[in-house]
Amino acid sequence: MAASSHRVLVLHGPNLDRLGLREPAVYGTMTLDALNERIEAYGAARGLAVECFQTNSQGALIDAIHRAAGFDGLVVNPAGYTHTSVALHDALLSVPTPSIEVHLSNLYARESFRHTSVTAAACSGVIMGLGPASYELALEYLLSNFTTNDAEPDHV
Ligand code: DQA
Repeated sequence: MAASSHRVLVLHGPNLDRLGLREPAVYGTMTLDALNERIEAYGAARGLAVECFQTNSQGALIDAIHRAAGFDGLVVNPAGYTHTSVALHDALLSVPTPSIEVHLSNLYARESFRHTSVTAAACSGVIMGLGPASYELALEYLLSNFTTNDAEPDHV
């Protein structure tokens, strides 16, 4: 396995600490700890150093997004704040780190208030509806991006 040269921060927003107990028909039965283990193992197998963090507080999520400036990539599930938070949108725009928004569920198959993401436009892309694989595919994208950038020759 390659040495962990790239660092990725994975952020989970409010109520995701209730995974496993919360609406299992929508979110499945995997706990947040199990999800984090799966994401970290997926990253480690590909030479990525993944750090996961969950908070129910919008301010702490904003602080964590600022901290992402020290990482090579950001994967963020803003959860309920997705649909409301201009402050999170602005925080995402305030850091140069490439960011992918992810959701476990397919927002378009759910209530209409979930059809709008205030935060998505501040991210490079969005992956949703694939359960834990949404996070893994986000890591996959970041990885391909790192590889392309690393391979690019310097231009004068
Ligand atoms: C979610 C979808 C949001 O609408 C919801 O508020 C969440 C989780 C998801 O991962 O599917 O908390 O972001």
